[in-house]
Amino acid sequence: GDHIKLRKLDDSESKGTRVRVFGRVHRERKQKDVMFVTLRDGYGFMQVVISGQLAKTYDAVTLTRETSMEILGEMREVPAGARAPLNRELHADFFKIPKHWKAPGGDDAITNRVQADAEQAMLLDQRHLTLRGEVASGVMIVRDAVEWAFNQAYKELRFRKVSPPALVQTQVEGGATLFKFDYYGEDAFLTQSSQLYLETCLPSMGHVYCIEKSFRAEKSLTRRHLSEFTHVEAELDFITFDDLLSHIEHIMCRVLELVMADPVVAEKIKTMNPEFQLPERPFMRMKYSEAIDWLVKHDIPNEEGKPHAFGDDIAEAAERRMTDIINRPIFLTHFPAEIKSFYMSKAPEDARVTESVDCLMPGVGEIVGGSMRMDDYEELMAAYKREGIDPEAYYWYTDQRKYGSSPHGGYGLGLERFLAWLCKQHTVRDCCLYPRYMHRCKP
Ligand code: 4AD
Ligand code: MG
Repeated sequence: GDHIKLRKLDDSESKGTRVRVFGRVHRERKQKDVMFVTLRDGYGFMQVVISGQLAKTYDAVTLTRETSMEILGEMREVPAGARAPLNRELHADFFKIPKHWKAPGGDDAITNRVQADAEQAMLLDQRHLTLRGEVASGVMIVRDAVEWAFNQAYKELRFRKVSPPALVQTQVEGGATLFKFDYYGEDAFLTQSSQLYLETCLPSMGHVYCIEKSFRAEKSLTRRHLSEFTHVEAELDFITFDDLLSHIEHIMCRVLELVMADPVVAEKIKTMNPEFQLPERPFMRMKYSEAIDWLVKHDIPNEEGKPHAFGDDIAEAAERRMTDIINRPIFLTHFPAEIKSFYMSKAPEDARVTESVDCLMPGVGEIVGGSMRMDDYEELMAAYKREGIDPEAYYWYTDQRKYGSSPHGGYGLGLERFLAWLCKQHTVRDCCLYPRYMHRCKP
C-alpha cells in the first residue's frame, strides 16, 4: 500500500514508520530467539531485528553474509549508545529472499575485513567482491566526492572542462613509459598526459582542465605507480610561476574543504585517517637545490647510495623520507632541465633550472607535477632536439608558439595518489576501482 515507502538506508526515519527496504547482509548475529542483521545498500547501514516466528524460518536460520533481502517492518528508536547506527533499528515483520539472492557465506575474503595476511594477488583477483568491504568501498565513495569537488572548485574559478583524446601520436613524459599500439597500420600511443592538448585550448577557452585517464608503461612495481591512472590536469593562461603555485595550493585546499563539508564523506575519511587535518597554507616552498642540501645534511643517499649532488633525480625512497620527516605539504620547485620534461621553461634568474614544481605529501611523496611552459618557438625547437624528439608529429603543439603565444603553465595531479594520502592507504592500487599495473589487467 502507499503507507509503505521504498527508501535508502541512510534516510532519516521517525519512530513508528513502516518501511520496505532492500539491501545485502553485511553482518549477522544469531541469538536464541532473535537475530540481528546489519543491512547494507551503499548509502548506509541499518540494524534489522528479526524475532519470534520469523527468526525460526528456514531462510532466517540459514542466513549468510552478502545475501540480498527485501524487508518490511517498523522503525523503532533504540536507546542512545546502542550498537544500531543512527540509534534506530528496523523490526522486521516480513522478509523475502528469492532463491538466487542467496550468497554461499563463510568466505572472509569477500568482505575485505579479516584478511590482513591473505595474498595480495588473490585479493586483487577477487576485487569485484572485496569492493564490498567497508574500507574498499569507503575509498571509492571518497573518490566520488573528490571528483565532484574538483569539478566544483574549477567551476568556481570559471575553468572550462574539456575532453582530450586518449589515442595519440605524441609523447609528453618520455618514450620509456609509452604504451604503443597499432592504429590502422600506423604507430600510436595511449596518452601519458593531456597537457599538450589543454595548451591548445587556452587561446579560445581561457583556463581549462580535464579529468581523464593517463597511461604509463611503468616497468616496476611500486606502491604509487599504476599503468592506468586518473589525471586531474589544468592549464592557465597569462600567469606567472607564483600564480601557478598559489593556484595549485588553492585548488587542493578548496577540494579538501568541499569534501570535508559532506558529513558522510568526512566520517569515512576520519575512520581511515584519524589524524587527518586540513593542510596549513601557505605550503612550504623549497627549491630543488635546497632539497639536495637538505638530503645531504640528513644523510639520505641517492639511488647509487652516494650523497645527493645537484643534477641527481630525487628518487621515490629519498622523496618519501623527506616528506615523512618534514611532515607537511611541500612545493619542491626549480628542478634542473635535464631531469625534467622537454616543454618546461627556464627560470629567468637561473638558466640551469626550470620553473617547475612537484607537490609532495607525507606518506606518498609526489602528488602533483607542474610547470610553466616554453612559449618561445626557437626555444621549443631546441628542446625537441635535446630530447631527440622528431618535431613533425608535434606541429600542432609548436604552432601555438607561432599564432599568438602567451606565458602559461599548468599541472597534473594523480587522483589515486591524492586519495592514498587523504585516506591513508598504503598503495594507489587501493584507490582505484580495478587497478592496472605491471602484469595485472583483470578483473
Ligand atoms: O609528473 P607527471 O609525469 O606530469 C605530467 O604528466 C604533466 N604533463 C602534467 C601536466 O603538467 N599537465 O605526472 C603528474 C602526476 C604525478 O605527480 C602523479 O601524481 C601522477 O600524475 N602520476 C601517476 N600516478 C599513478 N601512476 C603513475 N604511473 C603515475 N605517473 C604520474
Ligand atoms: Mg612528475
